[in-house]
Amino acid sequence: MGKTVLVVANWKSNGSLADAHVLAMGVRNECEHIDGVQVVLCPPAVWLTEVRNIVHDQIHHLAVGLQDISSEPAGAYTGEIAAALVAGLAQFVIIGHSERQRLYRESDEQLHEKIRAALTASITPVICVGEQQQSSTSKVTLARQLDRVLHTLTATQRNQCIIAYEPVWAISKGKLKSTRPASAEYANEVAEYLHRVVPATTKIIYGGSVDAANVLTFVAQPHLDGVLVGAASLHLREFSTLIKNAAKASDHADKYR
Ligand code: 13P
Repeated sequence: MGKTVLVVANWKSNGSLADAHVLAMGVRNECEHIDGVQVVLCPPAVWLTEVRNIVHDQIHHLAVGLQDISSEPAGAYTGEIAAALVAGLAQFVIIGHSERQRLYRESDEQLHEKIRAALTASITPVICVGEQQQSSTSKVTLARQLDRVLHTLTATQRNQCIIAYEPVWAISKGKLKSTRPASAEYANEVAEYLHRVVPATTKIIYGGSVDAANVLTFVAQPHLDGVLVGAASLHLREFSTLIKNAAKASDHADKYR
């Protein structure tokens, strides 16, 4: 107990401009009254500026991020978003989400280049790792996978990253409460193991069917620093309650009991 809890909202490819506006305004209002939680909204890239204008400079513990970034520099790369283009706009970027790996077959080397590109632009990478199916060797496989994508990074650079443990089998298809999350104890065990690859101070968060009702069991775990939230982050009332409940594991917990 006693930490700042990270809550990263991955809106995936959902919502209109109007939806993004209403959701970001609602979260901003909620965050005005909450301490001990850092909330990061990752809208579809087309709404980044809109959301950023709503949260920017308003509240220090509310930030914006992207859901992906190009491994290439700025230049003749049609359709790509180079890190240099969004430096100063986005503070975080999700890299290697399993939906991207499955659908777009990103290689470990590409992920590595994306991480380097983000760090060079002073954008914090939120690096996803997760197994397809739970097994007794999952932890070892995940640690190897993480080590491969981080391979040339120094301990200092590894410490600038956030690691998201997202077991693929626990990720919903976009509907609240449609999939069972991992147990918080198991997620904690994996996070502890991944610290063999990243420094003890590197933040590790859990993602996969996190909602308002179960968030506290995850963020109260000693090796988990927060959560990566999909479906529940698209429903303002659910997400507001989730933020409040996450704050109960923070330094400011006394206020929210
Ligand atoms: P759900 O919370 O909908 O399971 O999604 C998790 C996720 O993929 C966040 O990146």
